[in-house]
Amino acid sequence: MANNTNRVVSFSIVSGKGGVGKTNLALNLGYALYRGHHKVMLMDCDLGLANLDVLLGLTPDKTLQDLLTQDVDPADVVVPIEQGGFDFLPSASGVPELIDLDEDLQGLLFDKLNNVLSGYDFLLLDLGAGISRTVMRFSAMTQERIVIITPEPTSLTDGYAMIKVMNSEHGVKNFHVVVNMATDHEEGKRSFQRLHAACERFLGLDIKYAGTVRQDPTLIQAVIKQTPLLKMAPSCNAGRDILQLAVRLKRMRDARLPELGDQEGLSLPQENNTD
Ligand SMILES: Nc1ncnc2c1ncn2[C@@H]1O[C@H](COP(=O)(O)OP(=O)(O)OP(=O)(O)O)[C@@H](O)[C@H]1O
Ligand SMILES: [Mg+2]
Repeated sequence: MANNTNRVVSFSIVSGKGGVGKTNLALNLGYALYRGHHKVMLMDCDLGLANLDVLLGLTPDKTLQDLLTQDVDPADVVVPIEQGGFDFLPSASGVPELIDLDEDLQGLLFDKLNNVLSGYDFLLLDLGAGISRTVMRFSAMTQERIVIITPEPTSLTDGYAMIKVMNSEHGVKNFHVVVNMATDHEEGKRSFQRLHAACERFLGLDIKYAGTVRQDPTLIQAVIKQTPLLKMAPSCNAGRDILQLAVRLKRMRDARLPELGDQEGLSLPQENNTD
């Protein structure tokens, strides 16, 4: 993706524990950024258990798996979510041989997509939960990482484990943490501080607080209606919190603008161990 017109900044949305809100946050952050006049590509990298299509009520014709196994034009895999700049790259569910992509296939996938992706401002990768090699590598390929946790102790420990593996195996140091499903912002901040203290003490890492998204039943309604929350009810608690997060993401992109022209938006990470 090295060319002078490149302006895409890539973010992966990850978590150690499953079901913490990655897919919903990816979708709604994408929608908020699109409404802020940015071109956004949402990529479903949960290759085994794709969910974004369900959240959007879409039945995609072609998926990322077709791109890998057939001679498909990458532009034909792109599904518009909203006119004028909010698009989606769907994945298939239940294709076991493609759940775990090796490094070569991941590289091939992005080689094929590079031209398409360079036309966007934001690339958001929705990933599966956990610390599988495929997930870790996808996340290490992006310029920024948003780690989602909830105030539950198991979510904190799983989030810590994920950060530890990303750091030790891929040398990644920059992590932005979102606490989802918190009762209020204070609870979210406290959860972040616990994770921050552990990362600082045991890993020597200064992880960043991106914000808190409050627990909000309106989000469950939006899931049932297969509509982005920010389209259905932007002023509910979770909607307002996600809008603030979108502003953070915009600032993170702005900070990277000077280096964009000659940098690849996505590149394969160096793995520290070789098994
Ligand atoms: N802020 C919130 N308030 C209330 N409910 C929420 C909130 N965020 C997420 N949820 C609930 O959690 C469910 C799971 O969310 P989501 O599918 O986005 O998680 P995930 O991390 O992508 O899961 P997986 O690890 O399986 O991919 C949602 O369907 C919704 O019911
Ligand atoms: Mg998900």
